[in-house]
Amino acid sequence: MTRIVRTVAELREQVRAWKAAGEQVGLIPTMGALHEGHLSLVRLAQTKVKRTVASVFVNPKQFAPHEDFDAYPRGEARDAELLESAGCDLLFAPNAAEMYPQGFSTTINLTGVSEPLEGAARPQFFGGVATVVTKLLIQAQPDIAVFGEKDYQQLQVIRRVTRDLDLPVEIVGAPTARAEDGLALSSRNAYLSAQERAAAVALPDAMKAAIAAVQAGERIETAEAAGKAALAAAGFRQVDYFDFRDADDLSRLGPDALNGAKARLLAAAWLGKTRLIDNMGA
Ligand code: PAF
Repeated sequence: MTRIVRTVAELREQVRAWKAAGEQVGLIPTMGALHEGHLSLVRLAQTKVKRTVASVFVNPKQFAPHEDFDAYPRGEARDAELLESAGCDLLFAPNAAEMYPQGFSTTINLTGVSEPLEGAARPQFFGGVATVVTKLLIQAQPDIAVFGEKDYQQLQVIRRVTRDLDLPVEIVGAPTARAEDGLALSSRNAYLSAQERAAAVALPDAMKAAIAAVQAGERIETAEAAGKAALAAAGFRQVDYFDFRDADDLSRLGPDALNGAKARLLAAAWLGKTRLIDNMGA
């Protein structure tokens, strides 16, 4: 059975015991509402370390007041069952008071790679993510921590924070898990109506088309504009961004061509009340 602990003290005691027995530990931070994508992170960790810990904490600090913190899907019993089926050893499920004790006053302040794209659309987001992930890494002291490439900018921000603060952990990125039609798996897909779910495939389709066009020599700006137009035609009501960026620091690429740069296409767009994000190597 996947054991559930709710306090940092219990978490540390278990991790200490594993390490004393010479067993390496991997952490998979999540906000629950687990799906196959999360389980693929657990499985990737299991190929690298003996013991896996998943955390489930819907982190209030990464939601703005108007965002979906209250509506965010929650279901610990199902999450625990899925973790059990994946062979995860421990579920760390703290409550808000354990994570943010009375008087909590410390936040990680970021610049650089956190600023464009998600950082521009959701100004409080990465500060909240960096703060909770740093806490989780210090709490669990894992050898590795696995994050999905689905949240590509988040992964780059966490790599940066880990390097900047000398956190003694290896950050591992895991490929995005997708549904059969290509839509990236996300807990927020649960918000989509059947009609919206059918339309959502336009997002990966538009991204693949834009990458193919740019690789065939199309100007980046033209491909980005065509991608946005395809999303509007498919019923997306707003595109926050649909941008080719440098794959490491997410700076803008020139308007013309990839010019051999290591590039990534990142997109965020609204279908009804649901905001979908995705990214692909270009
Ligand atoms: O990707 C997520 O689910 C969250 O942003 C994370 C990394 C668990 C931090 O709350």
